[in-house]
Amino acid sequence: MTTSLDTGPTNRLAAGPLGRGIAWLIGPRGLRNPDRLRREVDGKIAVVTGASYGLGEATARMLAAAGATVVLGARSADQLDLIVAEIKEAGGSAVAIPLDLASEDSVNSFAGQVLTQFGRVDYLVHNAGKSLRRSIHLSYDRPKDLAATTAANYIGPMRLTLALLPGMRERGSGHIVNVSTVGVLFPVAPKWGFYLSSKAAFDIWMRAVGMEARPDGVTLTTLYAGAMFTRMSAPSGWISALPGHSAREAGYIIARAVVRKPRTLTPAYGRPSAVLAALLQNPLEIGAGLLYRFLGDTRASLAVVKGDGNAA
Ligand SMILES: NC(=O)c1ccc[n+]([C@@H]2O[C@H](COP(=O)([O-])OP(=O)(O)OC[C@H]3O[C@@H](n4cnc5c(N)ncnc54)[C@H](OP(=O)(O)O)[C@@H]3O)[C@@H](O)[C@H]2O)c1
Repeated sequence: MTTSLDTGPTNRLAAGPLGRGIAWLIGPRGLRNPDRLRREVDGKIAVVTGASYGLGEATARMLAAAGATVVLGARSADQLDLIVAEIKEAGGSAVAIPLDLASEDSVNSFAGQVLTQFGRVDYLVHNAGKSLRRSIHLSYDRPKDLAATTAANYIGPMRLTLALLPGMRERGSGHIVNVSTVGVLFPVAPKWGFYLSSKAAFDIWMRAVGMEARPDGVTLTTLYAGAMFTRMSAPSGWISALPGHSAREAGYIIARAVVRKPRTLTPAYGRPSAVLAALLQNPLEIGAGLLYRFLGDTRASLAVVKGDGNAA
């Protein structure tokens, strides 16, 4: 079991001063003032999904260090226990509750335990996610590609919201952070269909729900995250060559979301990409289709189809 917080870019360009400078410039920038975070979350209850690795782990540790009681949810129970033990050793407050977003029973049991133990949720960070970059012909005989991506990125988080939102609205307060991807603002790309469609579906659903819940005091921040150097992106060589954030740095972006509660956070290139994607849909899709025919599948994708894992 390991902590993935300090995973950085393996590519020299991304890890160097130029790459880090570009990552800082394109943002979004994290909150740097721990006092502001502490004033916001001290004594509050925060639920973080996908807290066993990467951004979720970093977020859980950061919120606990700022005084929140953090509920960590994910499937890797041993890894969660390890993180909770370290949080407690450092004087923080946290509990691990197993959560498999692919199982309706697990989501209901998770939400039930949270409400029984704490009676309320002040922050809900929808962070868990399952990435997949694979040609559709490689998924014909893999129903689990469909099940895993839709469960982790869309249906599971919807169910969890349905279970926890009523209490937030009744109390008239609460903040939800949805960790989406800047990929949903990009032109549609071959091989990313399962991942991006499930992330986009939840983004749209959550924003619609957010509009209804806002008058009752429940706010929503959608983070359209750019590249992060985590377990998820590790198999994809080209992502680690892009300027991006470590899990810890990205945790400070979640801190900004929690403290300032903006409706959206996105890298500087996110909105222009969305405009171009809409204006130039046909030529961009023709170009991407041609490129796909030329490049085909990565060795990582092909290898994963034979074995299993996080294909990127
Ligand atoms: N890495 C990037 O470049 C990047 C870019 C844009 C957006 N994002 C988004 O950022 C978020 C965090 O990703 P990351 O980079 O930190 O990836 P990561 O290190 O792979 O972490 C993903 C987390 O999701 C959990 N998870 C996956 N399937 C689950 C399920 N069925 N039920 C419960 N938990 C589940 C995993 O825990 P278990 O395996 O223990 O269940 C893990 O803790 C994701 O929503 C991802 O889509 C990442």
